[in-house]
Amino acid sequence: MRYLITGGAGFIGSHLSERLIDRGDHVVVLDNLSTGSMENIRHLKSSARMEYHLDGIENRQLVAELVDDADVVVHLAAAVGVKLIVESPVRTIETNVNGTQMILEAACRKRKLVLTASTSEVYGKSTNIPFHEDADLVLGPTTKGRWSYAASKALDEFLALSYWKEKKLPVIVVRLFNTVGPRQTGRYGMVLPNFVKSALSNSPISIFGNGQQSRCFCDVRDTVEALLRLPERNRFMKGLYAWVGYRSIAVTFETADRSTGKSSFRLTDLAELALTGLTAFSSLPLRLVSVAGWVSSRSASSVGVVW
Ligand SMILES: NC(=O)c1ccc[n+]([C@@H]2O[C@H](COP(=O)([O-])OP(=O)(O)OC[C@H]3O[C@@H](n4cnc5c(N)ncnc54)[C@H](O)[C@@H]3O)[C@@H](O)[C@H]2O)c1
Repeated sequence: MRYLITGGAGFIGSHLSERLIDRGDHVVVLDNLSTGSMENIRHLKSSARMEYHLDGIENRQLVAELVDDADVVVHLAAAVGVKLIVESPVRTIETNVNGTQMILEAACRKRKLVLTASTSEVYGKSTNIPFHEDADLVLGPTTKGRWSYAASKALDEFLALSYWKEKKLPVIVVRLFNTVGPRQTGRYGMVLPNFVKSALSNSPISIFGNGQQSRCFCDVRDTVEALLRLPERNRFMKGLYAWVGYRSIAVTFETADRSTGKSSFRLTDLAELALTGLTAFSSLPLRLVSVAGWVSSRSASSVGVVW
């Protein structure tokens, strides 16, 4: 199979590319390296099954050509990371909404299956636990830049599902929760790389809020497994799949303390960064398990954290 992976030089995309090439598939990466890096895919460049284009998903003609040649499109390119989103809301909205629209439009012309990555952020401030795919989304005000990411991804979901309903374009929308592992960078505000960086430099670790919030983490190797299983097992049942990682992991003082040894902790006012609405996750959505046969296999302590 030939996979077009937008954002393939990013954290998740590079792991997905690696796995596909290893098992004999062909991979075409389209990435503008805005948050990704050539380093992430350098080890794949020598493979005859690897092709890459350093360009944006806004390049309509290139996207059309690459979609033509692909069997499956995995759309991961997006403006991501809390820091980037808060500092560049225009870029976030334009990349996520216009970019996804371009991909869907091109795929629709050739009826190519599109798997597009959404985010658990769309649940926003919802306290309706456990989350499920058709639960209400509770977003914050438009005056807070942080919510532009969730809103843009929610709009992506609407678009993708509308292409399926109205034009019968096969689409799969996946809501990723925090994915972690090697090659994830902390430059754009990702939590674990920042914890590790602070710990290694023996600096205070920033925890937003009261430190009692829960987040759910999934090892990138498990994430990739689920991304691969969905198109394969589910060619004729399109729709929306949410999943969480191994289990609820409370980002508490104790958890952080165990993993960091000497570091101390600093509390930062949530309101200051508009990071309200951190929520708890409590169970694996059964739908993903039943449709893709996927259960994450790695425990919290075995997550491959290497920076
Ligand atoms: N990592 C997570 O925890 C997580 C959680 C929820 C959702 N997601 C989603 O998964 C996807 C991949 O995220 P990631 O963690 O690998 O982030 P990443 O930043 O490592 O990957 C995104 C890639 O897209 C590329 N890109 C950005 N804009 C582009 C454009 N206009 N044209 C071409 N390429 C462009 C970047 O250079 C980067 O390589 C994103 O859609 C993100 O919203 C990730």
